[in-house]
Amino acid sequence: MKKVENKHTILILGASGFIGYAIYKELCGYFRTFGTYRTPKKEFKKNHHFFHYNVEEDDVFEILNIVKPTIIISTLRGDFSAQVIAHTHIVDYMKSHKCKMLFLSSANVFDGYSKYPSYENDKTYSNSVYGHFKIKIENMLMRLPKKQVAILRLPMVLGKHAPRVEEIKLLLKEKEPIEVFPNLIMNVTSDLKVTQQIHYIINRNKSGIYHLGSQDLVHHESFIEEIIASLGAKNAIIKRVYTTNDDRYLAVLPKEHLLPKHLQLQSKDVLKELLQ
Ligand SMILES: NC(=O)c1ccc[n+]([C@@H]2O[C@H](COP(=O)([O-])OP(=O)(O)OC[C@H]3O[C@@H](n4cnc5c(N)ncnc54)[C@H](OP(=O)(O)O)[C@@H]3O)[C@@H](O)[C@H]2O)c1
Repeated sequence: MKKVENKHTILILGASGFIGYAIYKELCGYFRTFGTYRTPKKEFKKNHHFFHYNVEEDDVFEILNIVKPTIIISTLRGDFSAQVIAHTHIVDYMKSHKCKMLFLSSANVFDGYSKYPSYENDKTYSNSVYGHFKIKIENMLMRLPKKQVAILRLPMVLGKHAPRVEEIKLLLKEKEPIEVFPNLIMNVTSDLKVTQQIHYIINRNKSGIYHLGSQDLVHHESFIEEIIASLGAKNAIIKRVYTTNDDRYLAVLPKEHLLPKHLQLQSKDVLKELLQ
């Protein structure tokens, strides 16, 4: 039987989402774990560990004051300006409380560089609104004492029930084209691996910047085709989208903060999970 450790009270912002809910399921047997949801759903309304929260309308302080988390895991989506304001409030709270933040960031904080994969200490640089927004929150958090923050940069997250995989299944069913980016070289991960890595980061009280992607790189086009093959589909309609003529990297590789071997992964592990 799983043992509930009293060490931490965890609040997952966006716990109803794809990654947030996977983290909730991983942690709730071990820690007092709470979460937020925005879209009203019976299962969350009934669960006393879930709070309704809309970043555009609600004050995050109210939930912080009820839950009194020692760890906040931010897995939100939603309006960028509202998220920046909410994270400003969380930073204020963290200045006067013993509390740590695990922030789910993205490989897009490097999407302004395209010629190489990126490592933890590389300077962030983005050309996208999404990347800019993630950089803004990362920088805000990095002004806190180092021990209080872990920034977890993720590449594309897949998994048996990942929205991207579900979308591919739907497009196949409806005989619609599936977009691939032939010049894009990336790494990948899965919800299962990310949640195990997060559990380890919490248990070992780790902080700093983590690049949580596969150790190998894949071409977007061939990886999506492998996913299609692993779903047993034939005659998929592929639409190749060329954004540049040169190869473009969107990959977050670890160099400084390596996790133990069993928490590292290869892209083929992500494909294997789809078959399980
Ligand atoms: N998935 C990836 O491949 C990937 C890659 C890199 C980084 N990330 C980052 O990982 C985090 C989680 O991503 P995900 O794919 O799991 O996203 P997701 O499935 O769309 O989940 C997003 C979560 O945020 C909540 N949310 C959305 N709008 C909100 C609003 N206005 N107010 C309050 N909550 C709101 C959603 O609530 P409801 O569902 O209840 O509406 C849900 O709980 C994000 O920060 C994302 O940037 C994801």
